[in-house]
Amino acid sequence: MIKLTPPLGWNSWNTFGANIDEELIKKSADAMVESGLKDCGYEYVVIDDCWAEMKRDENHRLVASKTKFPGGMKAVADYVHGKGLKFGMYSCAGPLTCAGYPASYEHEFIDAQTFAEWGVDLLKYDYCYHSSIVPGHILYKRMGLALANCGRDILFSACSWGADDTKEWIKSTGAHMWRSTGDINDSWESIKSLALSQLPVQAYNGLGSFNDMDMLVVGMHAKGLVGLKGCSDTEYRTHFSLWALVNSPLMIGCDIREMSEETKKILMNKDVLAINQDAAGRQPYMLGSDMERPIIAKHLENGDIAIGLFNLGDNDVYMHFSPEMLGLSISTGKTLKLTELWTQESETIVNGLCFHTMKPHDCRIYRAVIEDAE
Ligand code: GLA
Repeated sequence: MIKLTPPLGWNSWNTFGANIDEELIKKSADAMVESGLKDCGYEYVVIDDCWAEMKRDENHRLVASKTKFPGGMKAVADYVHGKGLKFGMYSCAGPLTCAGYPASYEHEFIDAQTFAEWGVDLLKYDYCYHSSIVPGHILYKRMGLALANCGRDILFSACSWGADDTKEWIKSTGAHMWRSTGDINDSWESIKSLALSQLPVQAYNGLGSFNDMDMLVVGMHAKGLVGLKGCSDTEYRTHFSLWALVNSPLMIGCDIREMSEETKKILMNKDVLAINQDAAGRQPYMLGSDMERPIIAKHLENGDIAIGLFNLGDNDVYMHFSPEMLGLSISTGKTLKLTELWTQESETIVNGLCFHTMKPHDCRIYRAVIEDAE
């Protein structure tokens, strides 16, 4: 198994789109180390779409753009590896990528070979222009087999946006993570709608093949390709907490060469990251069924419980839960000691309840330790 917990890294798409080149990738790798992101566990530097020449070479191999990557892709991979990081690339199950560059349909094995020779450690595999004859599960099985036989450990990041009932077949393809949503953009509406679409599919999420809710927009502040309106730091904190708690891979999408202090605090909250990276990788679940104000829990490997309160609505709201809802009935003689992971505030359960009045778009995320009730 290449990676047992949700992959962490940075991807070029959200901010840079087609405006990528070897300088940007190298500088982003530098920033991943110098900013402290690497020490927090972020490891993959991923080049998304638009990296290739428009034509394959005479041996039918993909070729890196000579203007964007004059030193070739192997040199970029070597640089990233030299920083102690891993290197990711992008292709597509159709004959063209979503942006119209050559892609891997009917070239799966030769492309996997090329990626292996370049030193690629992760392949994001998109679904644009896919065949209407060959079903999606076969297209992803082809690349899954090609990667499994290319002689290098390459993490398979499937990106079919949940289409064609992806959840039913994706684990059979060997994908280590799979895009379970459409594309994100840098707005609260997008964050909210992706989050709501994911709560019902948590049964498919878990160790070895995580539901990927798309790259983060934390810290974009309306800059870059998918930067629309931008969000407040509170909204970015809620976005990050949600993605982390429900085991999504955390692929940063902002310009990591220029992060604000608040952006760094969000992306590098080690307590929240520890919940995302919990070794047990258990299925997150909802307490209750209020989709506008979800309360989500996840049982952790050491017996603690992670619990998040999310006010996705536009008004102040009173939210509460009881230990009973997590399986701790009064008869167990147990209660919870809670630490809120953005403020480090400690809380106890009062009269059987944890309760808060929550501001719009705000969240609280706890690590709860089980202890004897008084
Ligand atoms: C699709 C994917 C995005 C991005 C673009 C690139 O839309 O879902 O994440 O990779 O293609 O063209």
